[in-house]
Amino acid sequence: MYKKQRIRVAPICCGLACLCVLLVLAVPVGASSKENTFKLDQFIDPETCGACHDEILAQWEGSMHHLSHKDPVYIRVANFFRQGLTDAGQIEEAESCVKCHTPVGVVTGFPTKLSDDLSQTPDIPAQGIQCDYCHVAVDVSRMYNNGLVLSPGQGEDDPGIKYGPFDDAEPDFHDAAFSKLHTDSQICGTCHDVKHAAFGTDLETTYTEWKNSPYNSPDPEKHVPCQGCHMYQRPGVPATGSTPRPENPGSAAADAKLRPHIFTHNFVGANSGVPEMFTAKDKSVMAVERLKHAADIFLVMTDDHTARVVVTNTGAGHSLPTGVGDLRQVWIEVTLTDSDGKAIFQTGVPGKNNELPENTVMFKTIFGDGLGNPVINMAKAKEILSDTRIPVGKSAAHLFNLKASPQKGYTLTARLLYRSMPQKILNQLSGPVLGPLPVVEMAAVQKMF
Ligand code: HEC
Ligand code: HEC
Ligand code: HEC
Ligand code: HEC
Ligand code: HEC
Repeated sequence: MYKKQRIRVAPICCGLACLCVLLVLAVPVGASSKENTFKLDQFIDPETCGACHDEILAQWEGSMHHLSHKDPVYIRVANFFRQGLTDAGQIEEAESCVKCHTPVGVVTGFPTKLSDDLSQTPDIPAQGIQCDYCHVAVDVSRMYNNGLVLSPGQGEDDPGIKYGPFDDAEPDFHDAAFSKLHTDSQICGTCHDVKHAAFGTDLETTYTEWKNSPYNSPDPEKHVPCQGCHMYQRPGVPATGSTPRPENPGSAAADAKLRPHIFTHNFVGANSGVPEMFTAKDKSVMAVERLKHAADIFLVMTDDHTARVVVTNTGAGHSLPTGVGDLRQVWIEVTLTDSDGKAIFQTGVPGKNNELPENTVMFKTIFGDGLGNPVINMAKAKEILSDTRIPVGKSAAHLFNLKASPQKGYTLTARLLYRSMPQKILNQLSGPVLGPLPVVEMAAVQKMF
């Protein structure tokens, strides 16, 4: 199978020479301004890593990192946003998506912009955010828009150093080294904070939200990085802020030693629809488990026809929702039914075309064009008009006028629901209609009269 490619025990002088070469290699090409650039054959196919790291490969397969380039929701929304732009700054942003969604392509020369013929993407970059991208990261040049500085090897014949959490790993196939970066939220945060490429508007702020939260505690006992939730999750263990996050003992590779915790690579957030399109049912199930342990909902009548609904972010390590907070839909549905089960009052129920009514109570970001007008296209975002997402540990309260007083036998239900994309946007995309995407019940509460 895979043979050791390098002599590990070398005379000291040779070792020093190697060290110098490595130091030179580790200095990225043009680090001060431009991206690091490399040859495509320096990057190793995830399947090769999976020959030994089979469990980790199986977890990563079908994750949103594996699908980041192929994700049809991303591709079609990105192309929709790019259409008809004439402003140079807007075009710059609309072309920039591949920097995070196809990162190996960007550092190896193709694709480098969204308008490249993506059908020509070579197989390795098409596999999205992968093993031999994250595990050759050595530094971060800026904490937004993917500032990872890479030091890849020379392909399968000379795989180079793979950086990770262990300081005592001695694999045969590749060299290994401990990397503090890999144990820190920064390795995630550099892609999970997104600024408009030309206007600087904060488009995604997951890392900053986490950084300003109690999970970024100086006390090591209380400090929970991204990995502390997202790389502990496995089926049946959602590993959120409101559920236990037990260790996952095992070994990292076939025949490797037992370790107290092996970080899982499912990278599950809230997206259950896209993994399902790629038959990654396990990821969909885990996304639902995660969403069901993210928030609490509480209901009380404040007078004979007014209900007060309170939603608390109990489980997320950032705002709820996070990421593309302008697109994600987290909303409250309220239903009052009479003793025959007939609806007397309803809000937050999708209507025809599966679109939500305008007056739905929703937690989200709204971008503006710089003149106070709302825009749905992130390429046009010059300002944030409003942000009603719920920060870590915080609550949001809303009053609902039921327009009727509940009688004996009536039931009042409030549900917190999640959908990853507004149907209103999906309905505007050219080509076959996408959706309906799954609606997940995050939390529900009922009051009987
Ligand atoms: C998004 C970046 C990312 C991707 C993609 C990724 N990893 Fe990891 N991996 C990490 C991080 C971060 C850690 C360490 C987490 C920590 O220490 O907090 C890790 C840990 C590991 C470890 C140490 C054992 C363990 O799981 O704790 C191995 C081995 C590993 N990864 C292999 C792989 C392989 C093989 C793939 C592809 C199938 C892969 N990784 C894809 C980020 C990534
Ligand atoms: C021939 C088997 C084999 C192949 C192929 C392989 N690895 Fe490993 N890898 C191992 C072993 C064994 C370990 C050590 C595990 C341990 O000590 O617990 C390891 C450890 C690691 C670590 C942890 C390093 C540390 O110091 O924390 C990372 C990261 C890693 N591998 C990534 C990769 C990536 C990325 C690939 C594909 C480019 C890959 N591996 C291919 C066998 C392999
Ligand atoms: C305390 C546990 C916890 C920590 C720490 C945490 N998350 Fe999450 N994350 C969650 C939960 C729960 C959800 C599902 C609810 C939601 O969508 O916000 C989630 C969802 C997500 C999503 C999908 C968001 C959406 O609504 O589409 C992304 C992306 C994400 N997390 C990234 C990160 C990153 C990056 C970090 C570190 C900067 C991080 N998370 C830290 C618990 C955590
Ligand atoms: C190279 C950039 C990059 C790095 C590094 C990265 N991510 Fe991501 N991540 C993405 C992109 C892009 C997506 C969205 C793909 C899509 O939806 O098409 C994503 C998706 C996710 C999701 C799924 C979100 C959902 O809606 O379900 C989670 C969870 C997540 N990342 C967590 C992490 C964690 C934890 C780390 C650090 C260990 C990390 N990411 C590192 C770019 C990155
Ligand atoms: C700096 C890194 C970065 C850049 C650049 C970037 N994204 Fe993303 N994108 C992400 C991350 C991280 C997520 C996951 C967040 C979440 O789950 O909410 C994501 C998720 C998405 C999603 C949700 C996909 C789904 O399946 O629901 C869409 C749509 C999207 N991005 C569109 C774009 C477009 C269009 C561009 C270019 C104009 C772009 N992105 C540029 C990091 C990036």
